[in-house]
Amino acid sequence: TTIPPTVFVIFGGTGDLNARKLTPALYNLFLDGWLPAQFAIIGTGRSKLTDEEFRTNLLADVNQFSRSGKAKKEAWDKFAPHINYQVADVKAPEAYEEFGQRIAGFEKEWNAPANVIYYLAVAPEFFPIIATGVAKSHAGTDPARVRIVIEKPFGHDLESARALNQLLAEHYEERQIYRIDHYLGKETVQNIMAFRFANAIMEPLWNRNTIEHVQISVTEQLGVGERTGYYDGSGALRDMIQNHLLQLLCLVAMEPPVNFTADEVRNRKVDVLRAMRRFTPEMVRESAVRGQYGPGWIEGKQVPGYREEKDANPTSSTETFAAVKFFVDNWRWQGVPFYLRTGKRLHRSASIITIQFKDVPHVIFPAETVEGWRKNRLVISIQPEMSIRLQVQAKRPGLDMMLNTVDMVFDYQGTYTNETPEAYETLLLDTMLGDQTLFMRGDQVEEAWDLVMPILTSWQNRPSLSFPNYSADSWGPEVAEALVARDGFHWFTLPLNGKK
Ligand code: BG6
Repeated sequence: TTIPPTVFVIFGGTGDLNARKLTPALYNLFLDGWLPAQFAIIGTGRSKLTDEEFRTNLLADVNQFSRSGKAKKEAWDKFAPHINYQVADVKAPEAYEEFGQRIAGFEKEWNAPANVIYYLAVAPEFFPIIATGVAKSHAGTDPARVRIVIEKPFGHDLESARALNQLLAEHYEERQIYRIDHYLGKETVQNIMAFRFANAIMEPLWNRNTIEHVQISVTEQLGVGERTGYYDGSGALRDMIQNHLLQLLCLVAMEPPVNFTADEVRNRKVDVLRAMRRFTPEMVRESAVRGQYGPGWIEGKQVPGYREEKDANPTSSTETFAAVKFFVDNWRWQGVPFYLRTGKRLHRSASIITIQFKDVPHVIFPAETVEGWRKNRLVISIQPEMSIRLQVQAKRPGLDMMLNTVDMVFDYQGTYTNETPEAYETLLLDTMLGDQTLFMRGDQVEEAWDLVMPILTSWQNRPSLSFPNYSADSWGPEVAEALVARDGFHWFTLPLNGKK
């Protein structure tokens, strides 16, 4: 697989996403030899910058954010000439003509037609105008050569998500639209499919007969910080559960696709979302809980509560924590609860999927030998630890028959020596290769919104009176413990670095 001649246009070229993720990822793809000689980046923004100034700014970003560390002068000097800057007002039709002229210039220089990828690293209110402008300027271009990449939020609710999809569909074919959910680009997340569908031993266990419940937990130590402007209108359910966590759930719950191609995989994922039990208002009260962090201490430093963050609304009722119990109503999963939780300012940052199996049907060992015994668990740790652990009982060495639970561990660190690419490297490469497997199709986005809408509506109608209800450095509000405790479970965390 090689990348054809490509022009990569970045709207929001002077913004945060390009600085932290896009250019560092493109630079690493360059270092790894993925980018062809016939490759150009056009960054665009409202500031007036020369190509040289733009490159200098990006070099500082690469030095700070690149996975491979500070840029080496020789490599950067080879990469930098691929970068160009174009000042543009995206509202002005001329902007798109100017891009067109530059693209034509590259094509002339390369003596080859170029694929053009437009990356919308801008606030969602600009999606419609840019999507329309780009489409108009490409009237007559072979659709296979024009792609548009967008970042969440894909709408604010079901209605606006539908409107956005409709607008995109007016101008583009679905195969031209790349909706990023960066979780799907993570190595450990991609590995879920490998683990499930390249191993014969998993499938017979992977259903309601053997599995008791599933937990998907994405906890973050960071607070909302300076992002209140975006976050306050969003909240944890929209920001994380509607997209990242439900995508993880789909990977765990999906049926085996016919083959590993984009639409076959995405068909099976959307099946899961469609099978998920819809919430009545009573179910929301029973199965969905929320929280907001108050002030506290994290690793010896005092940190503000959500309502005291910079520019925050001091009476905000936006949730910074959410936990929901879902069901997938199909043959494989009937009756198996899927508990999802996520929150900010929690004790530790860790993303883990825990699949807990049922107990043995009959215990043959005397009671005192099974004290240290826990049910079997498969723990897929996405980050920061990258591992899969199978927890099983074993006989402790000694003359008496004592059992305890041990971990059979596959960890990336101990198994592989090659570095793990960043999610954005994988995803940007896929946009250039034209592979949509790891991107969100329009129908998935709408199904996920449809599923969470009753929770959003119900929460909006009943602002919580107890916020803030958890302090920084905790594991979230008590109601989240109660949600699983009622069913006889507790939230699982991996013991790490001696921290509990
Ligand atoms: C983003 C959310 O999509 O994902 C952020 O908007 C969140 O609020 C981030 O912090 C988490 O991503 P990661 O890769 O750090 O787990």
